[in-house]
Amino acid sequence: MTKTRGLKEAKIKLGDLDKVISKILRKKKKAKIFESGCGYGKVMTELKKKFGKKIDIVGMNLMPDHGDKKKIISFALKENIITKNEVKQLKSIKLIFGDAGKKLPFKTSSIDLVYSQTSSYLYKDKMHFFEEVARILSKEGIAKITIPESSSPPKKFLPLLRIYDNKKFIPFEKFIKKYKIIKIKKTTSGNKFIEINSGKLNFDLSLKSSLNINKLNKKLFGVISIYSKNKTK
Ligand SMILES: C[S@@+](CC[C@H](N)C(=O)[O-])C[C@H]1O[C@@H](n2cnc3c(N)ncnc32)[C@H](O)[C@@H]1O
Repeated sequence: MTKTRGLKEAKIKLGDLDKVISKILRKKKKAKIFESGCGYGKVMTELKKKFGKKIDIVGMNLMPDHGDKKKIISFALKENIITKNEVKQLKSIKLIFGDAGKKLPFKTSSIDLVYSQTSSYLYKDKMHFFEEVARILSKEGIAKITIPESSSPPKKFLPLLRIYDNKKFIPFEKFIKKYKIIKIKKTTSGNKFIEINSGKLNFDLSLKSSLNINKLNKKLFGVISIYSKNKTK
């Protein structure tokens, strides 16, 4: 599992995060940022190097072994992203660990930018993650998240995200169409990603089951999440 993507890859998958942050900083003195599934934190390190004290950034991984502060610093030094003298610039990066598909540990309307690159396809409760992202975003906040799918597992495991309404399969892109604050967008490189704005998102879905395909085959990564629309009373 690659944990080393940086701003260059993020630009292809999510668009220009620098521009988004510069726009936030035209309105606010400080931007509050959350990266879900930060791996070895290359994007966070590059952003911190660029914006310094103007950004507060929190990164989340499932477990410390996937990237904790020590790993982030040693990776940044090894890859020459920072020099020894610049290590102190990373001091304020905060790392948290756990499942981002559960309640996110942030206050409502508190984060200006959420981004997540190649991570949400590994979450059991992908749809709850999107609901939570909408909740924590500040009024003018924005989230950019890669589509929670992966092309690497054999076709029989895809799509990873399956939504059923009355036993009828509804593709994710079609399902979210009626929700105004979540949209599929395309980067200039033509990659689709999810954009979320602040607000109340309630998909009214129940997670019926999930399957981590890595448990079936150590070479495959992804979690199948099966939802059904709650019945209206
Ligand atoms: C494939 S790596 C990608 C890392 C980085 N974004 C990159 O592109 O290089 C997936 C990351 O998602 C994190 N992750 C997996 N499941 C998670 C979960 N349920 N909640 C939060 N993070 C999770 C892992 O800890 C890992 O760092």
